[in-house]
Amino acid sequence: MSNNPIGIFDSGVGGTSIWKEIHLQLPNEHTIYLADSINAPYGPKGADKITELSVKNTEYLLKKKCKLIVVACNTATTNAIAYLRQTYDVPFIGIEPAIKPAALSTKTNAVGILATKGTLSSALFSKTSGRFASHIKVIEREGKGIVELIENGKLYSDEMKALLVQYLTPMLNANIDYLVLGCTHYPYLMPILLELLPKNVKIIDSGAAVARQTKAVLIENNLLNTEITKPKLKFYTNGSVDVMASLLGEHLNVEYLKF
Ligand code: SIN
Repeated sequence: MSNNPIGIFDSGVGGTSIWKEIHLQLPNEHTIYLADSINAPYGPKGADKITELSVKNTEYLLKKKCKLIVVACNTATTNAIAYLRQTYDVPFIGIEPAIKPAALSTKTNAVGILATKGTLSSALFSKTSGRFASHIKVIEREGKGIVELIENGKLYSDEMKALLVQYLTPMLNANIDYLVLGCTHYPYLMPILLELLPKNVKIIDSGAAVARQTKAVLIENNLLNTEITKPKLKFYTNGSVDVMASLLGEHLNVEYLKF
């Protein structure tokens, strides 16, 4: 069982930002990544639809004998992970906007959160926000259109820059010193964000923490692959292989498949 792959799914290519951290911290592990790009974005969909799609992705990965599943999508985590955990036997790792570290570290008492509608309106997000950030100002913005541009290979475009200026302006007017990236597509925006944000604004994404948590759960469940073999790194997509390959760039030994 410990030699079985880790399964990772997202509404599209964004979760590859999480896959990179997992592969970095767990280089021995075989992985299967599933990009449900045809149904991206999940953000504007209702909780029932997001759960239905998450179930379909999970069952696909379980058929491929995955030993643990990373829900590399904030929207799917905040809307569906409780259902997945109570329905299937394998361990699930989810990803939530890192509002807690931002709320604990802010000096200006104002943090910005960029996430999807599905994440911002979820019960899990309002619970976390209420618990850790009720004493500060939280400026939430729905990143409408960002996922679509990334999925369509328009990461570095004028349209993207214009959207980001629109979403960041109210946050900067409120004097934020932390920006939380609440969607796994958004780490790919880092070069543009660094250009647009003043130096005092720190950006938080959860990739490295998710990879650490994945490792800890594998160890806890005796599922860590201790064999030193060349890992099989498979990427399944029902969208554009080219867009995914352009984001994975330097990883040349991966296998792209259609599902
Ligand atoms: C989306 O599909 O709308 C974004 C995925 C995410 O929330 O990470």
